[in-house]
Amino acid sequence: MARPDPRPASTAAIEARVHLHDLKPQLVDMREEVLAGLGATPRRIAPKYFYDQRGSELFEAITRLPEYYPTRAEISIFESRLDALCAILGRGNVLLEFGSGSSRKIRLLLEGLRPTAYLPVDISREHLLEAARALAADYEWLEVHAICADYAAGFELPWRPRSADGESAPITGFFPGSSIGNFERAAAGRFLAGVHRTLGAGGQLLIGVDRRKDKARLEAAYNDAAGVTAAFNRNALLHLNRALDGDIDVEAFDHRAHYNEEAGRIEMHLVARRDLTFSLAAENFAFAAGETIHTENSYKYAPDEFRALAAGAGFDTVEEFTDTEGLFSVFILRAV
Ligand code: AVJ
Repeated sequence: MARPDPRPASTAAIEARVHLHDLKPQLVDMREEVLAGLGATPRRIAPKYFYDQRGSELFEAITRLPEYYPTRAEISIFESRLDALCAILGRGNVLLEFGSGSSRKIRLLLEGLRPTAYLPVDISREHLLEAARALAADYEWLEVHAICADYAAGFELPWRPRSADGESAPITGFFPGSSIGNFERAAAGRFLAGVHRTLGAGGQLLIGVDRRKDKARLEAAYNDAAGVTAAFNRNALLHLNRALDGDIDVEAFDHRAHYNEEAGRIEMHLVARRDLTFSLAAENFAFAAGETIHTENSYKYAPDEFRALAAGAGFDTVEEFTDTEGLFSVFILRAV
């Protein structure tokens, strides 16, 4: 990884290169959404409810587990193929990251790509600003336009970058981590079509996608021996208890993750160990032993399958990179 500047820039010099565009993302009514999902058949909650403070820490811990290969595989591709990636993507682009979080992975690419501006998009204004300031401090040449928006819902760019001739300049998108795996396949196609509109014709997308592979390898990655994924799954219920004044006995639920080969997805569930009742947001729920809550789908793609999905959204595949074991794909797509 490139080393940050040894002499840190002054606070004023950093602030001058950090611009916030708050698009005031519509916060869904959590109470309504959660109660509807828990009352549905089969019962479900959205995977976004994993990610409170504790859940984000647990996910970080997951990325370091020996069984959880995706993060390591993707980073190994960025590191080992950095020159090839940067040669294709080119320097001096406007770089837009969808769901930037802590903006950790983009650091691997910033020196090589030398973007004219970096546009992180994230729904959490606090995390977005914190990450933006840290980047501006570590890369003294970098302009950061932080966009507070819900990337999954679609958003309008607050400004269109212009090229020298006044035309709107194409953008390079970045969507790592196989985050696209949380979308249903049809929704993933619609999301990519929306990304195409945002980037503009000639825009490029660097996207990480986990591959279909044998069941044992996949199931190990979501059933780690240390139980971190189980804690991550149960934490969704702790989050609900806290946010919606609930009394769910979290320990009364087992973690279950299995690969649905037909659908090409890991499914995560929480399974009631016994008959139980709880209250949440002043509503009462009764579960029979063995009843489940579906908490996540994580879709996997064969290389050709993903190319076809991208093509349907107007993208040509320029290049596909993989790791030494062929576990994970990094695609460079071009909007046509
Ligand atoms: C963040 C959605 C890519 O699906 O592998 C990790 C989330 N869930 N372990 C994934 C997750 C359980 C992760 N994504």
